[in-house]
Amino acid sequence: MKYSLVASLILQGSLVLGTRDLQPVHFKAPSALHFRDIVRNDTYDFGCRPIAHPTEDGQFTLHALLTESQIAHLTEEYEDTDLSIHRPSEKRAAAATAPIGSGDRFSGGTIAPIGLGTKASGSTISSILNVKEISSAVQGLVSTYGVTTLNLPYKTFNGATQFAAYVGAGTDKSQYHLYLSAGVHARERGGPDNLIYWISDLLAASKAGSGLTYGKKTYTNAQVKSVLAAGIVFFPLVNPDGVTYDQSSGSLWRKNRNTKSGSSGDSIGVDINRNFDFLWNFKKYFDPSEAPASTSPSSETFYGTAAASEPETKNHVSIYDSFPKIRWFMDIHSAAGDILYSWGDDDDQTTSTTMNFLNSAYDGKRGPVGDSAYKEYIPSVDLTNIKTAATAAVNAMKAVGGRSYITQQAVGLYPTSGASDDYSFSRFWAKSGVNKVYGYTMEFGYSTNFYPTLTEFNQNILDTNAGFMDWALAAISVGLT
Ligand SMILES: *[C@@H]1O[C@H](CO)[C@@H](O)[C@H](O)[C@H]1NC(C)=O
Ligand SMILES: [Zn+2]
Repeated sequence: MKYSLVASLILQGSLVLGTRDLQPVHFKAPSALHFRDIVRNDTYDFGCRPIAHPTEDGQFTLHALLTESQIAHLTEEYEDTDLSIHRPSEKRAAAATAPIGSGDRFSGGTIAPIGLGTKASGSTISSILNVKEISSAVQGLVSTYGVTTLNLPYKTFNGATQFAAYVGAGTDKSQYHLYLSAGVHARERGGPDNLIYWISDLLAASKAGSGLTYGKKTYTNAQVKSVLAAGIVFFPLVNPDGVTYDQSSGSLWRKNRNTKSGSSGDSIGVDINRNFDFLWNFKKYFDPSEAPASTSPSSETFYGTAAASEPETKNHVSIYDSFPKIRWFMDIHSAAGDILYSWGDDDDQTTSTTMNFLNSAYDGKRGPVGDSAYKEYIPSVDLTNIKTAATAAVNAMKAVGGRSYITQQAVGLYPTSGASDDYSFSRFWAKSGVNKVYGYTMEFGYSTNFYPTLTEFNQNILDTNAGFMDWALAAISVGLT
């Protein structure tokens, strides 16, 4: 009797931990620097990465997901300062989130998904793809249009086989220049959907000889054909273990489900987007005041046990090796409403080639923005090119007519290490003989709103799909080789 009582109490305790009562909040202050101390504390959850956005009234906001006790602690700490903490409106907090699909709407890969760009204006998609449907949707594209899939070499911690797919430029893998991935952070619902419906639109419009319409933004059939001809590689679900868990628990789960460093509650899992081999060992490379990732397994930004320790990271990297002429990369995240471009570890500088991430003379100095101890080198022509495509994508997303987006250097005011976008751009300098890749992070949707309403989910598809179109068109015009 006693034992079963203890067991049931433990079970209840872990259930409470499992559901993690996180509340979306935002901080507001007159400058982004006001948030620096908060951001450097790795016990707080800032979504993909902490980015301060300017507001129309000349202030800055920073979004976070916090427990009630963290909110109480910070409210007290910042009482009588010009930094304030806000909760979403009651209407927003009470809004119903989009359902996850039940069953398989693509009947085991015999039916192709149809995107919003080829449907009548005002059409909607009724639910978010479940994990099985993500595979079955891509199989539907394989059986309907001859898309080719590729099984990736490493199985996930829970034993899932991962796949990517490629389309548009035939069988020669060196003809593929665009690479998009989604579903890295499990809770960022709708990422895989945005990508899969866009590819579906390209294929349907190409076949029908038609164009695409996303809200107020339209594209011609010639534009569709040229985007496909650039050769697109897509990896629609980078974190299947995490997404499976998030979809069944509704717990705002972010990381993968590896239990090597911790086997209960928040200590499970590695942040795949801090696990890439770019300044991964941040304790060595960064100024000690910065927290670009975390060494603590219970943190949302836990960096893992080694650079690229995780199978999902290794599979992501294997795609560059399989498609050696990838030139443009986009990692699809939510939710902040921006497109981030290189670099993410420190301010950009275009003048000193030796002040770069490989130079050990700068170890311990990277990270703080606005100082002159270290800034990351980027050739000015590359900076111009990457900004051109980021701006084109954001302008298209705004032109859809749903909401505004901004472009920003990934570092914002707070650095990150081990992220997929920096890794992609760093390869050219870190490895001999590899292609230069321009890497981006797109954060669709409304801030920290990881579970969109159905209306928002559909708006996100329209916004991102126009963003992908103009990003790809800008890439083609800047150059694919
Ligand atoms: C980080 O925040 C927690 C509260 O969530 C607090 O207890 C802890 O002292 C903070 N750590 C530092 C280094 O400020
Ligand atoms: Zn993310």
